[in-house]
Amino acid sequence: MNRSILVNKDNPISESLIDKIDFIQTLDIFNKDVKVEKETYNAYLELKDYCLKMSYEIGISSAFRSFDEQRETYEYYFNKFGKDYCDEYVAPIGASEHHTGLAIDFYVKEENGYPKDDQDISSLDSYLEIHKYLKDFGFILRYPKGMENITGFNYEPWHIRYVGKTIANEIDRLGITYEEYKESFSGVVVVNKEKGMTSFDVVDRVSKIFGIKKVGHTGTLDPMAEGVLIVCIGKACKIVELLTAEDKEYIAEAKLGIKTDTYDIEGKVLEENKVVLYNIDEVLNRFKKTYMQEVPIYSAVKVNGKKLYEYARNNIDVELPKKKVTVKNIELLENSNDTFKFRCLVTKGCYIRSLINDIGNSINCGAVMTSLVRTKQGNVSINDSYTLSDIENGNYKIYSIEEVLDYPKIMVDKELEFKISNGMKLDNNWNIEDKVMFINKDNKLLGIYEKDDNLLKVWKNFV
Ligand code: DAL
Ligand code: ZN
Repeated sequence: MNRSILVNKDNPISESLIDKIDFIQTLDIFNKDVKVEKETYNAYLELKDYCLKMSYEIGISSAFRSFDEQRETYEYYFNKFGKDYCDEYVAPIGASEHHTGLAIDFYVKEENGYPKDDQDISSLDSYLEIHKYLKDFGFILRYPKGMENITGFNYEPWHIRYVGKTIANEIDRLGITYEEYKESFSGVVVVNKEKGMTSFDVVDRVSKIFGIKKVGHTGTLDPMAEGVLIVCIGKACKIVELLTAEDKEYIAEAKLGIKTDTYDIEGKVLEENKVVLYNIDEVLNRFKKTYMQEVPIYSAVKVNGKKLYEYARNNIDVELPKKKVTVKNIELLENSNDTFKFRCLVTKGCYIRSLINDIGNSINCGAVMTSLVRTKQGNVSINDSYTLSDIENGNYKIYSIEEVLDYPKIMVDKELEFKISNGMKLDNNWNIEDKVMFINKDNKLLGIYEKDDNLLKVWKNFV
């Protein structure tokens, strides 16, 4: 089961999904069989243990329910408390989170044992205390007090939902419901990509961890490369192109005397040459310049609608496009007979394996890239990045769009908010030279505007 699925009265679940749930069978507090989704159950056991340490004994009063079981539950409460109660507390068949196996109703043991049903709970104090621990175990309180209009259900202090630590953290931090989270969550996260994954693999994982479909990366890292990969989530995807355009710093290792089709050590060897000793420091210095760099054939850059690597794979000749790049800085870090390691700062679109290939060609023996680490993008350094497993375990920092962009930020009144929300042009009263971010009194980003002659016009709208 997709642990970030949203199920409510507006988003009923399809019954066929139920067949695919990986369950653990256990006993509820009434000694009846109960099933819980596996990951949810393991997280629940950790929560239960922690509660015990804090002197609360908790048990499951209900967990997975099939469509038939939800019907029985509905009928039980209907007969006992009537339709009004059911409208507020019991989901129609298909609209219950209990169909996912990810929801648990828990009861806290009282002096005379466990409550018999929701009405039998004698004090909420212990529930309120346990709510504080939920996020550390990946759970959220799904139907919080005062949010009935959004969740569609009354306050249920016993109903918790497993979403994983990251989502639980964000919901706690933002103080919002799951409906609001799924609708509006956005932010920028700096991933320290490990070797072997494609940039798309990273995007896919981040999308799953945060439970948000719209995710994009800012500047591809090849599978062989590691380091800083800035990933945008939700509305933050609108600024992907701005972050992609930033300068990037890399530390690369290369081997002289060899040429491959991909310009890296994993490619097919095309040539092997004797390496004459060079002053590699001096050679690198010659590359501190702006030049037209040929895009490598093994890249996803499109020519006439087809990716370059598809031409290579099918042995079709193609003229490689050239892009203007600047190597702003290049510095030798280490070298031995036929290897060297360097740090460089380059502009958008510069391929380091191409740079290494160009360096190798300039001294007639060829060179290939053997390792690559992106150490910086814009102002963000690898020291500010997190591995995917850090992020999965709730150890990460999420930045807002305003935090990662360096443009002036201006708070506007209701009148301007209206104009901005409608994408209207504005007078440039602030003498903006490039772009500006407008926020409202609640600190909500409304839009990014840019200079347009004497006026400001909308660049991206965020409302
Ligand atoms: N009590 C919750 C809303 C359910 O029936 O799923
Ligand atoms: Zn429930």
